[in-house]
Amino acid sequence: MTENSSHSPAVLMSEFVSIAKTGDIPEGEGRTYPVNGRVIAVFFADGKYSAIDDACPHMGASLSAGYVENGAVTCPWHAWRFSVENGAWLDSPKSKLRCGSYEVRVVGNEVQVHVPAG
Ligand code: FES
Repeated sequence: MTENSSHSPAVLMSEFVSIAKTGDIPEGEGRTYPVNGRVIAVFFADGKYSAIDDACPHMGASLSAGYVENGAVTCPWHAWRFSVENGAWLDSPKSKLRCGSYEVRVVGNEVQVHVPAG
């Protein structure tokens, strides 16, 4: 029997991983999870999950602790606002400054994120 090369560790590292159960993150809030060497903020807002980098690009505050409204999280330290969907810096839309964003899916009662190895 030969080994199937599609199951190499490099491929497995880029697949979705379960980080929470549905219901673990209350509506309108975020939680922090370490995934593949990165720290990710996962939000549940308006009935949808989304994931961006947890560290604020300004001075590193945890964005998962921020206030979430209308698709935006407000950093708890200096109130910069970022899209929870795509990580864009909403206070300066033309800026290249942004948080990384990640795919999220729900399989059964598991919340899963797709985070490339960091
Ligand atoms: S650390 Fe987030 S706005 Fe300053």
